[in-house]
Amino acid sequence: MLPPRLPAAALLAAATAALPALAQDAPAPVTLTAKEDHKRTMDLLGIKELRRGADGNPKSPNAANADESKATPYPDLPDPLLLKSGRRVTSPEAWRTQRRPEIVEDFDREVYGRVPRETPKVKWEVVATEKTMVGDVPVVAKRLVGHVDNSVYPAVTVDIQLTLTVPANAPGPVPVVLEFGFAFPGGKGPALPPSGGKGGLSWQQQVLAKGWGYAIIVPNSIQADTGGGLTRGIIGLCNRGQPRRVDDWGALRAWAWGASRALDYFETDPAVDARRVCIEGLSRYGKAALVAMAYDERFAVGFVGSSGAGGAKLHRRDFGEKVENVAGAGEYHWMAGNYLKYAGPLTAKDLPVDAHELVALCAPRAVFISVGSATVEGTWVDARGMFLAGVHAGPVYELLGKRGLGTREFPPQETALVDGEVAFRQHAGGHTTGPNWPTFLRFADRYIGTPANR
Ligand code: GCU
Repeated sequence: MLPPRLPAAALLAAATAALPALAQDAPAPVTLTAKEDHKRTMDLLGIKELRRGADGNPKSPNAANADESKATPYPDLPDPLLLKSGRRVTSPEAWRTQRRPEIVEDFDREVYGRVPRETPKVKWEVVATEKTMVGDVPVVAKRLVGHVDNSVYPAVTVDIQLTLTVPANAPGPVPVVLEFGFAFPGGKGPALPPSGGKGGLSWQQQVLAKGWGYAIIVPNSIQADTGGGLTRGIIGLCNRGQPRRVDDWGALRAWAWGASRALDYFETDPAVDARRVCIEGLSRYGKAALVAMAYDERFAVGFVGSSGAGGAKLHRRDFGEKVENVAGAGEYHWMAGNYLKYAGPLTAKDLPVDAHELVALCAPRAVFISVGSATVEGTWVDARGMFLAGVHAGPVYELLGKRGLGTREFPPQETALVDGEVAFRQHAGGHTTGPNWPTFLRFADRYIGTPANR
């Protein structure tokens, strides 16, 4: 028998009354320290012990290797153009429809984790707009917040912080360089860049000088940079406050997901040409920039700064930071839980994929691999390991009618390898993309300098 009919207004009132109750009833997120969650992940994988990582201190008995003759314990890399069936990929079509998805699946499951099939919607709000000057360039600077729909689990709130600055007098929509920023730029109002120091132009000023805009997204507003935060942020929200499964996404994919949501916003902003957006980051955010570029094919150009292990550096190299470091309690949250296996029962050579294939996922788009001087920046990030990933991504670019690095010889410092779609330059400075900006911008200009180029 049908229940008695209620008037529509009463039904609506009943339904909306239930909503706040639901919010209050949502249990708080599980609270675990990074160490506890790391141990929990090991338990899920049945791992008793992990090998310890290398030590950054060269005097330590366990110091990271800096001897090139010992850097290649596993010389064989997975072939990006060999299907799991054993068949060779010989057409762009087979790359796109068969091999690329295989590589994506391996990275998803074993390395960076899977983004849930459905993620909550993000509603972008412009919270401040200011007409101002950056150096002598009039700009429009906006501060935005991306409110992530948390109706499935109101105990976790995620508000993505983003600033966007474009030249005020642009004749049309402009290219934008999107950076994963280290801190929330600009307090209350929109952000203004610091000057470049020593009389030089800041990277923001260099970007504006091209007539382009820049944007800065705050990774920590998407996902905290600690294993103790995995039940909160976007990962925790999607898991309704529960800890991760072993193939769930880590922070790198979460940060990249946030950058993709910023790109969604750019697609709606008439000041931006969203088909001409670069993604840039340094260090852990260099890793995130490469992951964003690899997974979201809407990004036109990548500028990947000193990304090291988990970024462009080959996992199979033993030079500087190792898989065992990234799998430790301080960094494992960047990756999928499954990645821990390769520092325990398995080793780097058992990974089904390596970093050259992450670079290959960017093909045919342009990607610039940046690193600092070995003497100033140090050897932890492994310049050559990142260069080699670029080299071994080459065959995929070539299959797609593009050019890779064009050499297998590691170039002298300050040599720009920029003739192909994979670029590399080791600058003379430290742990920064700073000195490579002019070279990068000239490189990027080929791809996004004019709308007709794409
Ligand atoms: C550490 C870590 C690197 C990381 C870097 C950073 O050095 O070992 O993997 O890139 O921090 O992000 O600052």
